[in-house]
Amino acid sequence: MTDITFIVLLFVHVGTVILWMGASILYVSVLGPSIGKLAPTSRADLMKTIGSAYERYIVSNATIAIVAGLILYGYMTQVAKTLPNNSPEVPWLAAGIIFGLIAYIIGIVVVMRSNRKLMRMMSQTPTPSPDSGAPSAEMKMVQRRLAIGAGLQALFLFLALLSMVVGANL
Ligand code: HEM
Repeated sequence: MTDITFIVLLFVHVGTVILWMGASILYVSVLGPSIGKLAPTSRADLMKTIGSAYERYIVSNATIAIVAGLILYGYMTQVAKTLPNNSPEVPWLAAGIIFGLIAYIIGIVVVMRSNRKLMRMMSQTPTPSPDSGAPSAEMKMVQRRLAIGAGLQALFLFLALLSMVVGANL
């Protein structure tokens, strides 16, 4: 018989994973490099306009994806216990969970913190004129940390996706 609970949990998990990964790859491949090429005034305006909305979007989807994934894992483990042919734990799935958690932690500890710091620095600095010079050394460092964090998050998300798909189909 069709297990509705499993399907609903899988749908919520995979749906939010797509939104999380999509936003992360969009930042690494298009938004990040384009923001770096903008003039300081335009960059500050863009960050002030989309910075917190983008962060809310990515954090809420990532949190729902992780929570739904953990509930799904707990549910599958309980169901497996009731079956006569109790299948052994798949190491690929465990690897996917670890990669997913690493991506989430990088998102909160590195990406979110750097994004907030950057927005704070931009709101504290008086709006620069379009022809003013490059951003301060500290701002450049935070931007670099943000770019590295976003790249690492996308990499671990990709590894998690790979492991999950292999683990679910073994
Ligand atoms: C703590 C983090 C996570 C947990 C606990 C978790 C747990 C699970 C579980 C239990 C399944 C069902 C596997 C099965 O049907 O045998 C699943 C499926 C899946 N997960 Fe995750 N997951 C996590 C993170 C992620 C991440 C970060 C991604 C992608 C970037 C991801 C992508 C997927 C996909 C695509 C499937 C469906 C695979 C298929 O049916 O072929 N998961 N996950």
